[in-house]
Amino acid sequence: MKRYEKPVIHKLQIGFANKFGFASPYGARVRKSIDGVPIEQLVEKYGSPLFVFSERRLRQKFRELKNAFTLRYPNVEFSWSYKTNYLDAIASILHDEGATAEVVSEFEYEKARRLGVPGEQIIYNGPYKPKESLRVAVKEGARINIDTFEEIADLEEVADELGVRPKVAIRVNMDTGIHPRWSRFGFNYENGQAWDAVKRIALGGKLDLIGLHCHMGTFILKPEAYEVETRKLVELAHRIEDEYSFQIEYIDVGGGFPSRNRLKGIYLPPDVAVPSIDEYAERITTALLSSLRAGAYPKLILESGRAIVDEAGFLITTVHASKRLPDGRRGYVLDAGVNILFTAFWYHFNVEIDREVNGAAEPCVLYGPLCMNIDVVHDRAHLPPLPRGTRLILSPVGAYNVTQWMQFIRYRPAVVLIGENGEVDLIREAESLEDIVRRERIPERLKR
Ligand SMILES: Cc1ncc(COP(=O)(O)O)c(C=O)c1O
Repeated sequence: MKRYEKPVIHKLQIGFANKFGFASPYGARVRKSIDGVPIEQLVEKYGSPLFVFSERRLRQKFRELKNAFTLRYPNVEFSWSYKTNYLDAIASILHDEGATAEVVSEFEYEKARRLGVPGEQIIYNGPYKPKESLRVAVKEGARINIDTFEEIADLEEVADELGVRPKVAIRVNMDTGIHPRWSRFGFNYENGQAWDAVKRIALGGKLDLIGLHCHMGTFILKPEAYEVETRKLVELAHRIEDEYSFQIEYIDVGGGFPSRNRLKGIYLPPDVAVPSIDEYAERITTALLSSLRAGAYPKLILESGRAIVDEAGFLITTVHASKRLPDGRRGYVLDAGVNILFTAFWYHFNVEIDREVNGAAEPCVLYGPLCMNIDVVHDRAHLPPLPRGTRLILSPVGAYNVTQWMQFIRYRPAVVLIGENGEVDLIREAESLEDIVRRERIPERLKR
């Protein structure tokens, strides 16, 4: 059936074409399935919106990263950054691939332990580590990357209480030529604070300094920054070994590699703008191999999150309504908003539709279902006139959404995993009223 479309006059939008000739970088490709499973079948069974993860893509991304580094350096550990995506099923796949756990809170620590990760396979990071959680981490042999002088003091007290000598590392922040500089975590390299922390640990005499850590930031598009980072960490390790009796067993370069997402404000498409994992691996391992002393090959630790899981995640959402905005653009109301897509603030997701639709593509804004002005999922999609009920498939959304999502106004939706053989498993149920009110209490006098 043909639909009537009221004609509109469009002001010419500059900014859509660019010098590479991508007339419509946000054009609508049709996607009828994910890993062979039809979109409609997924929605029928689990509802919309729906997060869908591909196990095949997840394992493939992990293996790409692993190969890139282990080919170049013999002693590498991959530690899964829980905050990026700590759904049990996702973390379990990565542990199955051999990743240890990188956690930044007692909650994440407990989640990793619950999944069967032993303490020695946990790296405990973060600026706020309650003392009780340090006690548990020390008892269980976790590696602790110290963030503050207060934490050094706390750990010394824990060491006294338990009668042990905890193995620790310090987090270092530094100038690697990238901006913004994440200078609030750990101890600064250039102003001597990192060295002061080393001295403080040595003088305290209660902790064994065995590692150095740095995590520069996220979505870092410059592989050369990692070369600077690695060289600085190795220099610091040598200085520590020369002046104190500590032996640096690991250099942890953190995470931060980008996924093939389209960062807002970046002109080039991800295929051009995002360097390959090999380029990062080459920079880091070249820096290590050229600056390490013969016979000493400390473990290289990577805490990559986004680059592994982002492209394994899709969100299926449904067109609920459409309207013409006063500036001529079309606006769509979807059933998924920034409540479940936190990363929409930073990225222009890839938008695909589940069916062929006639009509010229035009600039559109994708709004979520919240009664809030900020609820914009995409402000420059380029789509043909979509009938109500059309499914949109947004990607990549696998990193930082199913952890940073919030229960605000609406229930959080289900999450499913498509296994390598095409089987579909529910890995997180959609929320219900019961989940949300379970922890609320009504004082007796207010009951009716
Ligand atoms: C200490 C630490 N390690 C690793 C990561 C993972 O970073 P990404 O997802 O950018 O690889 C983060 C994220 O912010 C982090 O804070």
